[in-house]
Amino acid sequence: MKTIHIQGIKGDSIIRIGEAFENFKKYVPVENVVIVTDPNVAGYYQNRFPPYEVIQIGVGERVKTLDTVQHIYEQLLHMEADRSWFMVGIGGGIVCDIAGFAASTFMRGIRFGFVSTTLLSQVDASVGGKNGVNFEGYKNIVGVFNQPEFVICDMTVLKTVPHRDLLCGFAEIVKHGAVADGNMFSYLEESYQDALSLDPDIIEKLVYDSVVIKSAIVNRDERESGERKKLNFGHTFGHSIEAVSGVPHGEAVSVGMVLAAKLSEARGYLIKRDVERIESLLKNLKLPTELPIHKKEMLDALKKDKKRKGDCIDFVLLQEIGRAILEQIPIKELEQILMKW
Ligand SMILES: NC(=O)c1ccc[n+]([C@@H]2O[C@H](COP(=O)([O-])OP(=O)(O)OC[C@H]3O[C@@H](n4cnc5c(N)ncnc54)[C@H](O)[C@@H]3O)[C@@H](O)[C@H]2O)c1
Repeated sequence: MKTIHIQGIKGDSIIRIGEAFENFKKYVPVENVVIVTDPNVAGYYQNRFPPYEVIQIGVGERVKTLDTVQHIYEQLLHMEADRSWFMVGIGGGIVCDIAGFAASTFMRGIRFGFVSTTLLSQVDASVGGKNGVNFEGYKNIVGVFNQPEFVICDMTVLKTVPHRDLLCGFAEIVKHGAVADGNMFSYLEESYQDALSLDPDIIEKLVYDSVVIKSAIVNRDERESGERKKLNFGHTFGHSIEAVSGVPHGEAVSVGMVLAAKLSEARGYLIKRDVERIESLLKNLKLPTELPIHKKEMLDALKKDKKRKGDCIDFVLLQEIGRAILEQIPIKELEQILMKW
C-alpha cells in the first residue's frame, strides 16, 4: 500500500492506494458510523461492509441534488445521529460528492472518509476535498471544500465497474498527464492496452501517479484560486456537453479535452502533432472524441459555467503535453470554435 497526504485548511486527508476495501474500519476513529452508498455498490460489496448503519441513495448524475442530500439528513435524524458520528461514502464520484457534502453540512459538519470504488473516483473525484451537488442545471454549483479524513483505493473493486464507467476514469488520467506530466502521458500511450485490461501493476501505477499530480496541486492551491483550475482542462466544454447530451462525465470530458486542445492550437500554443496525440490516445482508450450535440444548447450550457466572469470564462489551454496555462477567453471565441467543430 502507498499513502499520499493532502494538508487541507480544515484538516488533512490520507489517500491509501492499494489498501483492501474492508480495512477501512481501521481508519474510522469512532464507534458510531454511517455508510452512504448506492444500490450497485451495495449489490456487489455489502457483504464486505462492517455492521454499520447504511443509507442508500440512487444512481446517476440525476441524483446529485439537494433532494438527495435532504434524504440523507432525514435518515441521519431518524438514526438519532449526532456530531460524534462518522460518515463513510462507499462508491464512485457521485456517492463521494454527495456524502462529502452531506457530512460537511449536517450539524455544521461531521467527520467523513471515502472508499472510492470507480477508477474516476480513485484518480480524481474522491481526492482533493471538493464536495457538492448540481442545482438548477448548474453543475457542482452548491458545495464545500472539505477534505475526507481518508480515501481508500482498492484496485480489486474496479473489476466490477461497468466498462463504460471504467473508460471514464481513463479520461481523467489522460487529463492529469496532459496538464502536468508528459512522461505519464507517454507511459499511457505505450501501455494503454494493459491498462484497459486492468493489469494490476499498471493500473496501480496510473492511479498513484494521478493522485500524486492532483494532491500536489491541491496542496499548493486547495481553494482553486489559481493553479488548481488547471485540473479543469476539458471540463468547461465537458460540463456543457454533459448537461446537454447526458453522457457520463468522463466521456464529456474526453470530447471537451479534444476541443480545448484544438482551441490551444488555434491560439498558437499547442502544435498539431500534440493535438493528434491527445485524440489518438483517447480513441485508443475507447473514449469519444466527438459527439453529435446541439451547438446552441451547448453554448447556453457553457454560459452557466461556474468559471464564467462576465463575457469571459477562465479556460485551461495546453502549451505542450504536460504543461497547462490559464487564460480568460471571451465566450464569443468559444462560440466560434464550437461552430467550426
Ligand atoms: N469532486 C471532484 O473533485 C470531482 C472530480 C471529478 C468528477 N467528479 C464527479 O464524479 C461524478 C462521476 O463519478 P463516477 O464516474 O465514479 O460515476 P458514478 O459514481 O455514477 O459511478 C458509475 C457507476 O458505477 C457504479 N459503481 C460504482 N462502483 C462500482 C463498483 N466497484 N462495481 C460496480 N459498479 C460500481 C455506480 O453505481 C454507477 O452506476 C460526476 O458527478 C463528476 O462531477 C467530482
